[in-house]
Amino acid sequence: LTSQPSFHLPDYLPDRREIINTELNDFLRTSNHDRRIVEAMRYALMGSGKRLRPILCIAAAEAAGGNYKDVLPAACALEMIHTYSLIHDDLPAMDNDRLRRGKPTCHLAFGEATAILAGDALLTMAFEILATPDDYSSDHSPDPRVRLQVIRIIARAAGYCGMVEGQMRDILSEGRPLFLDELKSLYALKTGALIIAAIETGAQLTGCDSKKIVALKEYADYIGLAFQVADDILNVEGDPDRMGKAVGTDAVRKKNTYPALLGLDASKTLAGELVGSALAVLESFDHRAAPLRAIARYIVERKR
Ligand code: IPE
Ligand code: IPE
Ligand code: MG
Ligand code: MG
Repeated sequence: LTSQPSFHLPDYLPDRREIINTELNDFLRTSNHDRRIVEAMRYALMGSGKRLRPILCIAAAEAAGGNYKDVLPAACALEMIHTYSLIHDDLPAMDNDRLRRGKPTCHLAFGEATAILAGDALLTMAFEILATPDDYSSDHSPDPRVRLQVIRIIARAAGYCGMVEGQMRDILSEGRPLFLDELKSLYALKTGALIIAAIETGAQLTGCDSKKIVALKEYADYIGLAFQVADDILNVEGDPDRMGKAVGTDAVRKKNTYPALLGLDASKTLAGELVGSALAVLESFDHRAAPLRAIARYIVERKR
């Protein structure tokens, strides 16, 4: 047996978060200072987010043999899209939530109109970043065709065939019990699509071969569902102070969730099985997939 470099997720996550946060800050700084819209964008973006999607993008790039620098702008763009979705998800017309990332939701802090616009601005800024060639990693700057492909992948995942459709189904099914397979496909759209896109983006931008990309997307599919099941479980038994958002809200709103349909214990068992399946898909990958392996476990063990 060859010994492999040891990997420690409790070091990796904060390290990658800091890299991402610095880059996100820079993006907002260069695009203007004290205008109200930028303040609202920064308020929502720079909270205590876990940065899971950009970290997955980076970890997929690393598993494919690349470097985080090759995908950092794209990773930030994914976090902007995710943050826009949270701002809009919290609006009174949607989930009507008051706490996000440990602070009052964007619409409570800035008013609904500004919150809607901040979401719009983060979404569009993400695509501006994705379409901008990066100068600092020019040796790795991807072929414009790859860049276009990534833009299409992310647009589809975020839009009316992906996350937006998932949100639509989520709203339409409030108070109307779904079958388990309907909830599974709702979650694949609402949460899974952007997570798969994050991982595919990391792989595509580092020139990963198509066989490996298929495996990485399968991994992403499993952990995407596991992530949303864990979110449902935390909504039942999580600590709101640690999570930075309210708990118990799904039951109040008669949301379709895994605990509501399956019960808590079966939901936890399922989450564990999904992680097992995700890890099995990565068996052919070497030690460079250590972050992806550890993140899969973290997704269901997390307390926030
Ligand atoms: C919350 O996402 C919304 C879901 C899709 C479950 P996260 O749990 O990743 O939220 P942040 O980014 O850490 O705030
Ligand atoms: C949010 O889902 C998913 C998106 C924003 C696409 P939820 O409504 O279930 O997540 P939380 O619990 O508000 O974070
Ligand atoms: Mg919602
Ligand atoms: Mg919500």
